[in-house]
Amino acid sequence: MTASRLAIGIDVGGSSIKCALVDLNTGAFVGERFSTPTPAQDSTETLLTALKTVVSRVPGDHAVGLAFPSVLRHGTVRTAANLNKAWIGKSLSALAAEHLRRPVIAINDADAAGAAELRYGAARDVPGTVLLLTLGTGIGTALFVDGKLVPNTEFGHLQVAGREAEKRASGRAKIDQNLNWDEWAEQLNLVLQEMHALLWPDLIVLCGGITEEPDKFMDKLHCEARLCIGTLRSEAGIVGAALATTLS
Ligand code: BGC
Repeated sequence: MTASRLAIGIDVGGSSIKCALVDLNTGAFVGERFSTPTPAQDSTETLLTALKTVVSRVPGDHAVGLAFPSVLRHGTVRTAANLNKAWIGKSLSALAAEHLRRPVIAINDADAAGAAELRYGAARDVPGTVLLLTLGTGIGTALFVDGKLVPNTEFGHLQVAGREAEKRASGRAKIDQNLNWDEWAEQLNLVLQEMHALLWPDLIVLCGGITEEPDKFMDKLHCEARLCIGTLRSEAGIVGAALATTLS
């Protein structure tokens, strides 16, 4: 039997921070998942305190992987599309390590979700070009070529017919613009077609809370690439964050 390797994964989303202990052999949670609202526009200190609150509920002192909705270069936050702009330039991994008193690896949230789907889920053993989209507060993207991540792709900010992709087809766009499933799927089709035309992926994996209801929209989507829902659904970010602790 393989000894279990455990790490804590934290996924900072637009509305909630989710955290769990993950068995890295299987990608399964060990025990409960904890969450707390994301103080997205509050001070950096407030968000760091929220991280401490969730992590303190997980027993043990396991290393932490942190999935964050930003471009991250060597642990430093470089963009903050849906967060307080005060994050830009801050060393998230160093600050979080100080607050949580343990090693922290910080990576982009979509890259984390993609790594999890590639290791344990829908994109496992898929060769060629795989594009993963997280459809939440924004649209996050993760691009893999033969299993290798091209980090920090930001195709959610692509202009699609004169409007940013994430303003058209994120989960938040559906709610804020009160789109029904047909209208939202129409927007997502535009985004998928544009991304396909530029990247020609073999597989596109859709993730995020909205994909918990695939029956509402999957048969309305059209794309030349194979299209599927991530098998880890909205847990992919947590699992991929925990997985990132093995990459240091
Ligand atoms: C951010 C990305 C992030 C995505 C999903 C976008 O607005 O720019 O870095 O991955 O939202 O959270």
